[in-house]
Amino acid sequence: MVELSRRQFLQLAMASSLICALPAHGEKESHKELKECPATISVLHEAYIAEMSAYEHYESFRDKALQENYPNIAYLFHAFSVSEEIHADNYKAVLESSGEKMGAVNIEIHMKDTKKNLREAANIEMRKIEIIYPELLKKLESEAYDEAVSSCMYSWKSHQQHKDMISELLKYARFFLSVIVGRIEEMKFDFYVCKVCGSTLAEQPLAPCFICNKSMANYQKIQKPV
Ligand SMILES: [Fe+2]
Ligand SMILES: [Fe+2]
Repeated sequence: MVELSRRQFLQLAMASSLICALPAHGEKESHKELKECPATISVLHEAYIAEMSAYEHYESFRDKALQENYPNIAYLFHAFSVSEEIHADNYKAVLESSGEKMGAVNIEIHMKDTKKNLREAANIEMRKIEIIYPELLKKLESEAYDEAVSSCMYSWKSHQQHKDMISELLKYARFFLSVIVGRIEEMKFDFYVCKVCGSTLAEQPLAPCFICNKSMANYQKIQKPV
């Protein structure tokens, strides 16, 4: 018998040992100009495309889940899409503040069913945590442009939250994903996303954001998609 209580699910949002407070945007400004940092500009473009891809995938996963009558899983994917869009917007804001032009982003999505999309979501988050962001952060080291580094750290830590939530669900699924999908649909929860860093929680925050350290007033309650 699969057991996943609401309490266990809510704990997922707090589960990452990697999470710690980061300086908020603007608290420690870079002294150099972005145009003097070609490696950073390249990383910001790459990260923007990666986040837009995640955003569009989660929007598609949400729509498919709604179509297949899995409203709670649609809600999970919707909350993640809001978070990913915040990450993309953060990179775009840094680039546009120095006059960088954003190119068009073409994302190809191969639509599968919701059960497969849950596994795909876990893979997306794992790739970001273990491969993409460590590589991007490494490339930022030499130029150390503060706003780029903090934006990347916000994204990396938010993805850890996403991955923990999905992995916890999949851990209970084992070979019977249909069972866990049914259980998720019996649960009641609300998602909150920080507008500054994209931190994603499955319960209302009671303290400043533990990723960006900004006020908890920045957390917006995400409406359930219909
Ligand atoms: Fe993201
Ligand atoms: Fe935050």
